[in-house]
Amino acid sequence: AVPFIITIDGPAGVGKSTLAQRLADHFKIAYLDTGAMFRATAWKLGEDSWDWDSSKIETALKSFSFTLSGSGSNSVLSLNGTALTNDIRTETVGMWASNVAKIPAVRVFQKIAQREIGNTTSLIAEGRDMGTVIFPQAPCKFFLDADLEERARRRFSQLEEMGKPANLTELIEQIGARDDQDRNRKEAPLKAADDAIIVDTTKLDIDGVFKKLVAEVKKIS
Ligand code: C5P
Repeated sequence: AVPFIITIDGPAGVGKSTLAQRLADHFKIAYLDTGAMFRATAWKLGEDSWDWDSSKIETALKSFSFTLSGSGSNSVLSLNGTALTNDIRTETVGMWASNVAKIPAVRVFQKIAQREIGNTTSLIAEGRDMGTVIFPQAPCKFFLDADLEERARRRFSQLEEMGKPANLTELIEQIGARDDQDRNRKEAPLKAADDAIIVDTTKLDIDGVFKKLVAEVKKIS
């Protein structure tokens, strides 16, 4: 059967990951966290304390291979055979990811890697450009949004649960700056696809949003 793809895009901290994992569990398909692919790419590029010179980046990208295994919230993304860990989840690494995500060669590489995964597996694909650039043919696209402060609070709790405590005021600044950079970049900026269902989640709880998304998916399948 042709893989079935649902896309979820939106700014940082809006609850995309939580909802994407719940949807993936519900529909028993894989979950692709493309933000994690950018985070891991930035982490690896930074590991050798490289000045991100373009030829060095292209050489490094040639040695990167992302794979996805498992299903639902147990989906595991690996880079060169090693599963990604929570080390990439900090806001610092998020900003590195946003910085490398502006580089055209990095976007081309990610596009190929992400489509390759989507060609073989049904997915809930989460990121910034899933509905606009990577999987424009997806039959069901969501764009989640929420006020900046509310998103910072959600990210704060998430980091706390991971044992990575953060400062709320700092998070508001960091997430705001990262979103601005993601919205205003030239290549694949953060925005809703024309045919995306836009959900403002500021005043909604996660169960409410989840039910709404499931109902929308059922309409088309
Ligand atoms: O979703 P997450 O916060 O993990 O994403 C980290 C960064 O990776 C984003 O701020 C964005 O710059 C970049 N990204 C992207 N395209 C995607 C997913 C993430 O540019 N599809």
